[in-house]
Amino acid sequence: MQIYKVGGAVRDRLLGKPVTDIDWVVVGATTEEMLAKGFRPVGADFPVFLHPKSGEEYALARTERKSGRGYGGFTFHASPEVTLEEDLIRRDLTINAMAEDDQQHLTDPYHGQRDLEARLLRHVSPAFAEDPLRVLRVARFAARYADLGFTVAPETLELMRQLSESGELQALTAERSWKEISRALLEDQPQVFIEVLRECGALKVLMPEIDALFGVPQPQAHHPEIDTGVHTLSVLEQAALHKQPLTVRWACLLHDLGKGLTPEEEWPRHIAHEHKGLKLIKAVNERFKAPRDCQELALLVGQYHTHGHRALELKPSTLLELLQSFDVYRRPQRFEEFIAACEMDARGRKGLEQRSYPQADYLRGAAKAARSVAVQPLLEKGFKGPELGEAIKRERLNALKAYKEAASV
Ligand code: CTP
Repeated sequence: MQIYKVGGAVRDRLLGKPVTDIDWVVVGATTEEMLAKGFRPVGADFPVFLHPKSGEEYALARTERKSGRGYGGFTFHASPEVTLEEDLIRRDLTINAMAEDDQQHLTDPYHGQRDLEARLLRHVSPAFAEDPLRVLRVARFAARYADLGFTVAPETLELMRQLSESGELQALTAERSWKEISRALLEDQPQVFIEVLRECGALKVLMPEIDALFGVPQPQAHHPEIDTGVHTLSVLEQAALHKQPLTVRWACLLHDLGKGLTPEEEWPRHIAHEHKGLKLIKAVNERFKAPRDCQELALLVGQYHTHGHRALELKPSTLLELLQSFDVYRRPQRFEEFIAACEMDARGRKGLEQRSYPQADYLRGAAKAARSVAVQPLLEKGFKGPELGEAIKRERLNALKAYKEAASV
């Protein structure tokens, strides 16, 4: 049997990028031989094994044929006769279809190295279309390697367009899609992921709520970029520049969905877009089964981001409501993430990327003031049950009044 390193490990070594996990392909072996060498099978009918010591994935060289819709609809053919070239041709991109032996000798029948040099994401063969997830993968790689100047080859973009129109994307499971989306959002240039999806028509299918934001104007005074879609991408870009976590990036992407619902005659104003957007945010959250912390933050940021921007003008009672909505006493981190998302929203505007955001410290100070109210003295005064709740609220309101007064001195 011959063993080769394949896929991302070869690509990233040639790009001079760190290699995190290594995939191997085994040519000329049977399942029985693999088991005899101590490899552990990954799934019942999948010719993939884990190395007994390293835990790395070793797959028998295989050909694949699509036999139905979605990811389940595949038939595999793995046998010792399948060649390395046959295995590589079923892969997604030429830059992912190179193999290397233990002497670092490269097998590159589909010119991956040439495309690496040309900075092109190009599909290997029409078999690309057999897995619609590849549309998201290409967009993710475009985001990851944007700083190196990579773009999607026109013929690959065309194939992605056809796949998006064919209805195949709907067959993707929420789990597989979310895995790609979340990884893409954590790249340095996540906005490129959305741009590529939009360019090939996949955004309209996967997240029509975001696609609808392009072409929707906002008031120029606050939004020199005017377009809501452009603004959304800039907010996401800022979130990545500031190394925000996934929760914040997800919330940034979804924060303005309500603006897509504004009747044209109301443009460029978007009255109550925060509230109107909530049902759309919920729908996107559920479509991809986003993790609970991402879902929660997206909804809260959607509802309250304007409060964040107007923090210094808010009445103490409104500030208190805001803090209560975030349960800032038990979930201080979530409030921090809200502040971060608001700040990214304020900076994701043309020419305003460097602006200061005094609201952030002001909100932190308010949270601290409200949190500093001690419950013990109220218990000692004999407050119980709902009355205790009311007393705590009253004290917190007083603390916020004092805070606001002190801050305006
Ligand atoms: N692959 C594919 N189509 C997919 C998934 C994977 O053709 N839908 C192939 C590609 O050759 C890819 C290899 O399987 O390089 C390994 O896949 P994976 O580990 O998911 O991706 P990597 O390319 O290693 O990239 P990453 O660095 O993002 O893990």
